Amino acid sequence: MDFTHKYKQQADKLKGLSTFEGKRKTKWHSPSNIALVKYWGKRGNQIPQNPSLSFTLKNSFTETEISYIYREQPGISMQFLFEGKPNPDFGERIRKHLLTLREFLPFLNSLGLTINSSNSFPHSSGIASSASAMSALVLGLCSIERDLFGTLQDEKDFLQKASFLSRLCSGSAARSVYGGYTVWGKDGHIAGSYDEIAIPPEIKIHPDFLGLNDSILITSPEKKKISSSRGHSLMNGHPYAEARYGQARANLGKLIEALENGDEKCFTSTLENEALGLHALMMSSNPGFTLLNQNTWNIINAVRKFREASNLMLAFTLDAGPNVHLVYPGNNKKEIIEFISNELIRFCHEGMWIDDGIGEGPTEIYT
Ligand code: DP6
Repeated sequence: MDFTHKYKQQADKLKGLSTFEGKRKTKWHSPSNIALVKYWGKRGNQIPQNPSLSFTLKNSFTETEISYIYREQPGISMQFLFEGKPNPDFGERIRKHLLTLREFLPFLNSLGLTINSSNSFPHSSGIASSASAMSALVLGLCSIERDLFGTLQDEKDFLQKASFLSRLCSGSAARSVYGGYTVWGKDGHIAGSYDEIAIPPEIKIHPDFLGLNDSILITSPEKKKISSSRGHSLMNGHPYAEARYGQARANLGKLIEALENGDEKCFTSTLENEALGLHALMMSSNPGFTLLNQNTWNIINAVRKFREASNLMLAFTLDAGPNVHLVYPGNNKKEIIEFISNELIRFCHEGMWIDDGIGEGPTEIYT
């Protein structure tokens, strides 16, 4: 399926917007996600160099309300508020994304938009918000399309288009439009996978992996030192690039098998190989950069010791930053929370950590 072609053709029918009276509103709640197999490196128009697999979170989310009126004068007209206040930095980014999305949603030229967004997680937590923010925005835009043109009535169509458009804003956001496990990027291990949209994979997940927790330990409140886009671009010409893309495919295959068979050892080793591999790529790019801090290493070492002593399933993964995601099944929650309180909280910035886990995906708050 060529989704770009499909949505360009659809765009022809989304041009002639008839005038409507008054102000209308849509609001979406959309969570972030944590990648178990990482997307790192892209080509062309936001096409991933390798497939990635994530699960969507529950408690780390963005809520975005969009109100819209008909506007005679053509062009993008938008006011952006973050937590009720104007935020010119974020607003500028959103405006750029709307200009990109206009090719597929030409009716944006005839609307006056007021976008009000807020996050459940503190701004100082260093949690990447682009996945939740961009998916919440795009889901709202798809609701507007449905409202104004009567299109996207079918849920699958709706989510596929939302995934496609979210990807254009931020790759990882393509995965956030679904709940549970999500795959983005074409790969032989996953039937019906695509580079242009993410999908919920048709695999039977072992019960042990259905209710995973993700305790996010915040080791630094600092903003990212380097943007994801810059990081991705450093994969072009990276001496390990081809090996990395092969490793990601192999790890995806292993992880799928582990998820189906309930293989905890394989799950853990694959997750940690991906996390450390991602940061090894950053360190060995040109220029090289390091995002991990001393407390990241303190936590990783303590987790490995704890696992050896307790034999409990507990795996870590990392995003493009120094915070550590501890991934473990619901059955181990009591012991792991005790471990966090007794031994890990001292490595967290002001004792900050977020109790999260697999969630069911975005919800429309009102239509
Ligand atoms: C390390 O999705 O933030 O979190 O497409 O440039 O917006 P852009 O990048 P982004 O990259 C995420 C990288 C990652 C791994 C992942 O989520 O797969």
